[in-house]
Amino acid sequence: KTLTYSQAIEEAGQSLIRFPLKNVRGVPLMEPIAQNFEPIWAFCPDPTDILIATYPKAGTTWTQEIVDLLLHNGDTEACKRGPIVMRSPFLEIVNPPPIPSGLDLLHKMSPPRMIKTHLPFPLVPEGFWENKCKVIYVARNAKDNMVSYYHFDRMNLTQPEPGTWESYIQKFMKGELAWGSWYDHVKGYWEEREKRNILYLFYEDMKENLQREVERIKQYLDLSVTDDVIARIVAHTSFEVMKENPMANYSFIPKNVFDDSISAFMRKGEVGDWVNHFSESQLEIFNEDYQQQMKMVKIPFREN
Ligand code: A3P
Repeated sequence: KTLTYSQAIEEAGQSLIRFPLKNVRGVPLMEPIAQNFEPIWAFCPDPTDILIATYPKAGTTWTQEIVDLLLHNGDTEACKRGPIVMRSPFLEIVNPPPIPSGLDLLHKMSPPRMIKTHLPFPLVPEGFWENKCKVIYVARNAKDNMVSYYHFDRMNLTQPEPGTWESYIQKFMKGELAWGSWYDHVKGYWEEREKRNILYLFYEDMKENLQREVERIKQYLDLSVTDDVIARIVAHTSFEVMKENPMANYSFIPKNVFDDSISAFMRKGEVGDWVNHFSESQLEIFNEDYQQQMKMVKIPFREN
């Protein structure tokens, strides 16, 4: 069955605004998500479902595409059966657009489902842990993650205005962006990774050696996939190829939702673009704050 994004958007049928944020247990979420959090929290996955968890802009789409290809034995045509938002429901997103409601989609699909979330660890429905679902977490170094999120907030007309770069840094440091603090996010999953058998990946490792990281995902998911298939998946998920893939590059989102004349969803796909954004004094303030916030939990991030 071919899934179309426009059908889902039509069903949503509500007007679009830059939603304000509202706290759920101390975590700022977009208002429609916060207001509908109860059924999200109550969602009970199947033990075969796979969760891909990230802070926004850490490499979610990239990982979703890789996992879909692994589950389809590298069949690139099968992985063009629908836009990534339909192939892999976004757990907490609720109507209105830009993305069809995750729970609605999940209820129409049969397991094993590949589920995306940006929820920080304490807000992930407990069923994922009770049912021992496979959970893949992807973390990206703070500065590049923030740069990517800043440009995304400029073009995603449903999220709060990013304001100036200077003010954005402040909001990032204080955890005042949608889905909250990057610091709490990456630490929350890091601290639970062994107890919960979470595969904790880094964007920078994927850039350095994608084949190695795809192998790790394959092993974690217990899949038997040949080396040839791995090579095909690696080729199909390079930035250059994904940027041109209409089922992965978010060009299926209407322009009045994601305005790609402001910034593209597939923007640069690089490690170290932060050097083009931070002034020396911003870097100094940011680094000092970073040391404080990351003092208790050492996570081996690389920035370039
Ligand atoms: P940039 O804005 O730095 O370019 P998410 O999918 O979590 O929203 O993350 C989006 C970020 O991942 C964007 O970063 C995007 O370009 C990058 N990205 C997407 N696919 C990628 C790929 N195949 N290789 C490298 N980066 C990719």
